[in-house]
Amino acid sequence: MTDLNRQWWDERVPLHLASEFYDVGSFRAGQDPPHSAWTVDEVGDVTGVDLVHLQCHFGMDTLSLARRGARVTGLDFSAPAVEAARRLAADVGIEATFVEADVHDAAAALGRTFDVVYTGIGALGWLPSVQRWAGVVASLLRPGGFLYLAEIHPFATLFADGEQRIAYPYLEQPEPLVFDEPGTYADRGAATVHNRTVEWSHGLGEVVTALIEAGLALEWLRERVELFYDFTGWLVERSPGVWTAPDGEVPLLYSLRARKPVG
Ligand SMILES: C[S@@+](CC[C@H](N)C(=O)[O-])C[C@H]1O[C@@H](n2cnc3c(N)ncnc32)[C@H](O)[C@@H]1O
Repeated sequence: MTDLNRQWWDERVPLHLASEFYDVGSFRAGQDPPHSAWTVDEVGDVTGVDLVHLQCHFGMDTLSLARRGARVTGLDFSAPAVEAARRLAADVGIEATFVEADVHDAAAALGRTFDVVYTGIGALGWLPSVQRWAGVVASLLRPGGFLYLAEIHPFATLFADGEQRIAYPYLEQPEPLVFDEPGTYADRGAATVHNRTVEWSHGLGEVVTALIEAGLALEWLRERVELFYDFTGWLVERSPGVWTAPDGEVPLLYSLRARKPVG
């Protein structure tokens, strides 16, 4: 299952590097990535902190955090993603470490702990168990350090593509959801060969409970009714890059901070 997902991601790296969605040109010119500018702001002052970005893709969010003063390490299981991240860091002259590893092996692959674990925006859905993931996060944090997680809201992942019809489970299931779709969210029309993925739902309560059971203290949890792109296929663009449900409010993103207690 991991191999299927890795092949999907490996093939998408060059497509994403060339996509308007990721807009690498603007990033090179000094801007934050369009999908994550709000998280880089919300995570707060990271000056001088030792930060690891789990499932870092080709490193744009990681490098944005380095621009704000963090000492950054990114981890991803896709070799082309890690290579692209290293190239991008060198091109823009930012010091960063990128490690190729499955997130479940992060503690062994990184071999040390951090002040901040940063992750999300399309990360958890690739993992079978938030309980297992929360254990990894806790093992990577120093006492007093925190996890910052920003994710697509599980409510938004319930719907069939382009339809206001519930098609997928809200809670974590033992069996994965299997998809077989060409293209990518960043370029729906792209021609691709590796199209099968296995993915999992994780309810908001499951995520929070897993973190608490792993020993972290939840400091805040925010839900948002705006998203940076048309994730469901029926959102409406209210202003450039700000999408919401057509009628009323539905939760589309959430973010949280959870800290490892001292002592
Ligand atoms: C949507 S990206 C999230 C990063 C960031 N939000 C972005 O869009 O640039 C998801 C990343 O998770 C990685 N990934 C998926 N499953 C993984 C696993 N088991 N271990 C490590 N990385 C994984 C993929 O290679 C991909 O780069």
